[in-house]
Order: sequence, then structure tokens, then C-alpha cells
Amino acid sequence: MENISAMKASDKLGVLIVGLGGAVASTFVIGTLSVRNGFSKPIGSISQLSEITIKKDGVITEPKIKDIIPITPLENIVFGGWDIFPESVYDAALHAEVLTKEDIEKVAEEAKAIKPMQGAFDQEFVKRLNGTHVKDTTNKWELAQQIREDIKNFKKENDLDRVVIIWAASTEIYVPMTETHMTIEALEKAMKENSPEIAPSMCYAYAAISEGVPFINGAPALTVDMPALIDLSVKNKVAVCGKDFKTGQTMMKTVLSPMLKTRMLGLSGWFSTNILGNRDGEVLDDPDSFKTKEVSKLSVIDTILEPAKYPELYGDIYHKVRINYYPPRKDNKEGWDNIDLFGWMGYPMQLKVDFLCRDSILAAPLCLDLVLFTDLAQRCGSFGIQTWLSFYFKSPMHEMGKDPEHDLFTQNAIMRNKLRSFIGAEPLDALV
Ligand SMILES: NC(=O)c1ccc[n+]([C@@H]2O[C@H](COP(=O)([O-])OP(=O)(O)OC[C@H]3O[C@@H](n4cnc5c(N)ncnc54)[C@H](O)[C@@H]3O)[C@@H](O)[C@H]2O)c1
Repeated sequence: MENISAMKASDKLGVLIVGLGGAVASTFVIGTLSVRNGFSKPIGSISQLSEITIKKDGVITEPKIKDIIPITPLENIVFGGWDIFPESVYDAALHAEVLTKEDIEKVAEEAKAIKPMQGAFDQEFVKRLNGTHVKDTTNKWELAQQIREDIKNFKKENDLDRVVIIWAASTEIYVPMTETHMTIEALEKAMKENSPEIAPSMCYAYAAISEGVPFINGAPALTVDMPALIDLSVKNKVAVCGKDFKTGQTMMKTVLSPMLKTRMLGLSGWFSTNILGNRDGEVLDDPDSFKTKEVSKLSVIDTILEPAKYPELYGDIYHKVRINYYPPRKDNKEGWDNIDLFGWMGYPMQLKVDFLCRDSILAAPLCLDLVLFTDLAQRCGSFGIQTWLSFYFKSPMHEMGKDPEHDLFTQNAIMRNKLRSFIGAEPLDALV
């Protein structure tokens, strides 16, 4: 059993969002304000809606997660964050055009008061954006120090007990892991030398962990997924997790791939394409930013299907992912999947999925669950990588040398057992 005495869910929790002016962040913040004021329901949030089966001392009950697991109540959350544009959450939400003006107006007063601090930015890492609200230094060590000051000030000014940081900012270009990212000494040296191997997102992650603040990475970049920062998180007793919110197309992949494997059906090709017209789509139109996303989106199928074990079924899969920037669709992404599978005696079949989704509507409840569960984990003494939160990510952070778990339902079972462990309840096998 974990350290339940360390929990005080009644305390005020600061949620600092990197990319506060973005579509995901503004939808998350406005939605949470709306729910806590009684204007809407937290659809898609496991922490707010789902029940959990609890077996304790031989007695079985089925309470809601939020009623039995001591997560912070929504009323106790204080929002803040950073962006490279100065708009308030109210203006950002109007600009993103995800939510209707009517929904935004209901919480206008609160949303207008939530304004971003200046972002730590380097255009080399997000080529399509030209920020105007950025910190006045380009030295990466200095940037990290300024972010640490921002965290301390935010905590003090709002009289907060704890803070969580979530990255919902633009996807940075692909940065491969090198020796620089292996030890904290090498990382700090590279920050001081302003190395091109240090992305701004790493400065935020470094600052968070140095301040004892949990860090969640909702984008696919390296950011916190490196030995240097994972070691620091264990040393500083900080919870970290990532990468890349699992929302639409990849969520479908992690449901359909286990189906194929469970029925021993073969797969010869999976072609995924997307049209997307929001700012994220524009950033991902840059080949270097797309590469980061592509690596994240491609990893899923192989890990689930295990081609080395089943070469006759999965030994020769053609897997392709495209994202096309198409402004008319705005945040309402359309994701098509063409799946070429084969059955008895090798006869081919096709499966088509056309998911007309809303990107930020799918991502917002994930942000809420992640900040509440990551804060819970740290309060309960669970430090370093939170593999139990793999449920929420396309490329779940995992221990070196181990494969991540991608199957959505297995991830769900793992997550529930970890939640049970926090209150000393027995682990259960079923998905309940
Ligand atoms: N919506 C989804 O379904 C989904 C799923 C997985 C991952 N993501 C990722 O979440 C992130 C946010 O998506 P979005 O649709 O809100 O994008 P967005 O472009 O609307 O918002 C990103 C925000 O980040 C800001 N920003 C960029 N660099 C920054 C920096 N260094 N510091 C502070 N702010 C910075 C931008 O100004 C912008 O306001 C993207 O990386 C996206 O790939 C989204």
C-alpha cells in the first residue's frame, strides 16, 4: 500500500499549462470552469465519470473514482501557464473556434483573468510560429532559471499547496536522444552552452522537476523522456509521464490491433491519413515537426502485434501515416484508416475507418485526468515514470529495455489497479 497519509486532496492545486493559448489548453480550461460552475458535464473524463470496482476486506463496492480515490476536487484547481502569444484563455478559446461563443461567455470573467506568462521559445524548434510574448533571453540555462522563478511566484501569489505542469504546446522538431540527454551533468552543461540539442520543452521539464513539480508531456517530443531527467525525477521524488495524448486515430489503432491479434487475423497494410486545419495542423505541416509526430504514431502497431512472434501474420506490414494541413476543417480533424487484413488461407479483406472527430474535445478530458492522477501519484509516493498512465499516451514512457503497453484495455486494467493500490484495495483481473 502506498503512503496514503501524504494525501490532502483539499489543498489548492495549481495547474500550469505550457501552450496556455492553444486549442487543447483553452478547451481544457474553459471546459473545467464550465463543469465546476455546473454548465456542462465532464464527458470523456475517467476521473470524473467512471466507476471502479473496489474489493476491500472481502466486500465489493462500485463507487465513482472521484468519490473513493482522493483526487483534487475541480473547485480546488487554479489555472495558469505560458504561451508565446499574450491572449487570455478567453481570447484563445474564441480564436481556436473549438467551443461556441455561447459556451465561452458563460465563464468569460474567469477565463479573461487567466493570462499566460511569457514563453521560453526558440523558433528553430517550431519553425511555423513567430512568438511575440517570449522571454528576453535565448540562453537555455537562463530560460530554465526564469521558468523556475515563474513556478515559485505562481505558487506564492495563488497560495497553492502543489503545482502540476502539463505540456500542451506545439510539437517541436525531432531531436534524437544523444549523450547530452544521458546524465544530468551533461544536460546542464549543454543548457549552459546553449546547445542545439536542448529544446525549450526540456527547459520547462528541467525547471519543473528541479522545483519538485510533476511534469506531463502531451506532445511527442523527447522533452522529459531521457535518462537525465528521469533520474532527476526519481532523485527529487517527482512524478513524470508522457508522451503524446492518445486521442483519435491512435486510440482506434490500439483498439483494432488487439482485435486482429486476438483472432489471429493477419495484416498486410495500414494506411492512415488526416486532414486538420488548426494551428497544430499548421505546425505539423513542417516536415521536421511532422517527423516527431510520425515516430510517435508509427510505434503502436508493431508493439501490439509482435511480428517477431507471428511472422506469418505480421511479418510484412506496410504502415504509413500522413497529416495534411487543410484550413477549412479547423479543429475538426478527419482521420481515415484503410486496413488491409487477411484471414483463413490468406484471403484478403479490408476495413475502413472514417473518424470525424474534434481534436481538442478528445484531448481536454485527458488533460484533466492526467493532471489529477499525476498529482495523486506524487502525493502517494509514486516517483519517476508513471507507466500506469500509459492509457493516455500514444508513445507511453517506459523503462529502458522494456516494451511499452499499447493495448487500450490492458492499459485500463493496469491504471485501475494502480488507483486501487493508492487506497489499499485489492488488485482485480477484470476491466472493472
Ligand atoms: N488535440 C489532440 O488530439 C492532440 C493529440 C495529441 C497531441 N497533441 C499535441 O498537443 C499540443 C497542443 O495542440 P493544440 O491543438 O492545442 O495546438 P495549438 O497550436 O492550438 O496550441 C499550441 C500552443 O503552444 C504555444 N507554444 C508553442 N511553443 C511554445 C513554447 N515554447 N512555450 C509556450 N507556448 C508555446 C503556441 O503559441 C500555441 O498557443 C500539440 O503539440 C499537439 O501535437 C494534441
